[in-house]
Amino acid sequence: MILVMPMNRLGYLKPENFQEHNMKFEFENPTHLVFGAGTLSRTGEIVSRYGKKALLVTGGGSVKRNGTYERAVSSLNASGVTVVECSGVEPNPRISSVIRGAKIARNEGCDVVIGLGGGSAMDAAKVMAAAVNYEGDPWEMIAHGQDNRRLPTSALPIITIPTLAATGSEMNGGAVITNEKTTVKSFVIAKCLYPRVAIVDPELTLSVPQDQTAFGICDLITHVTESYFNGADGTPLQDRFAEGVILTAMEWGPKAIADGENLEARAQVQWASVVALNGWVQIGTAAAYPVHMIEHVLSAHHDIAHGAGLSVVNPAWMRFASQARPARFAQFAQRIFGLSLQHPEDKEAAMEGIDKFEAFLDSIGCPTRLSQLEIGDALLNRYAQDIVKIIHDEEGRLPGRPPMHEADIVKVLRSAL
Ligand SMILES: [Fe+2]
Repeated sequence: MILVMPMNRLGYLKPENFQEHNMKFEFENPTHLVFGAGTLSRTGEIVSRYGKKALLVTGGGSVKRNGTYERAVSSLNASGVTVVECSGVEPNPRISSVIRGAKIARNEGCDVVIGLGGGSAMDAAKVMAAAVNYEGDPWEMIAHGQDNRRLPTSALPIITIPTLAATGSEMNGGAVITNEKTTVKSFVIAKCLYPRVAIVDPELTLSVPQDQTAFGICDLITHVTESYFNGADGTPLQDRFAEGVILTAMEWGPKAIADGENLEARAQVQWASVVALNGWVQIGTAAAYPVHMIEHVLSAHHDIAHGAGLSVVNPAWMRFASQARPARFAQFAQRIFGLSLQHPEDKEAAMEGIDKFEAFLDSIGCPTRLSQLEIGDALLNRYAQDIVKIIHDEEGRLPGRPPMHEADIVKVLRSAL
């Protein structure tokens, strides 16, 4: 997504521009989306348009256990595409894995990269594809507070095949990578990281366990609550898009959790996860992602599931942010949970809406307290310092509505203990 407006160098609006943003934007998403049950069988036909030797990037092995890997390889081979394997990408993918994969791709002369798995396999595949021809240390692509960040400008063609409805990485130009040596988990967003094709086959999500399904639902909902609560004023259509994603996920998510084999529910949840972060919902909002930034630091330190961390941070952050902007949270309460408002800034209704949202997360099996993730209060200041080190405005605050000082971050996390 390319946005043209008064923004700082990191790409989000300054607080003084929230009200006068006025729908100025450019939008492009070049990823070709192939969606539907059974589309995995088209992998070979699709990949062969882009290359003859594919680096196939996977995670911990579930795709091998459930036969997805073998089916993908058969399809690739039948279309004349040779496969070079790069397996074992961690749930929070590490820069060392990126470097390992890029080396394999370079040594083997791969001309296309496939990310088959959850967000971690896809994100690692994207950055590997860019790292193949990147001069120097690929960690320099990732935002970690450095002065001279060098974004990648080219990458091998990327194909994504998600096996989990969650990250939306399959159809955007972003990736999140962890540096295990410095305990920093952060992002890169670049045009060359958009996949050429996303093959989204909801059948591949049928075997996802209940907890991972629930974490994915929380992740996709959080992708749109970030822009809903942190975006510019005056984007009524984007509000409705976001509400549509949330309501769809809340309707179909519990069905997918109750019956993992319910293909219709799996398909609706997966479509919601694609739409939640392919840029469409966020057009014109120029939103920062404070809840994600806070969660990334938690999972960098504790290696927890991203969606589980978000489930704890998001309601706690909402209670904090609603104080500064009750009307927005009252709108959320009214439109998502049908609560009636006494007036547009009804703080009581706003709080009740957040309580109901938290109760929904709890009902699908997501944690809502840090203690459930076995995270105590020992490192709260360290998390806050790490977060603003990665991203901060001119006043040293984490961007968002409202921008957060380190003390605010500590306060939010403390409220979630
Ligand atoms: Fe996320």
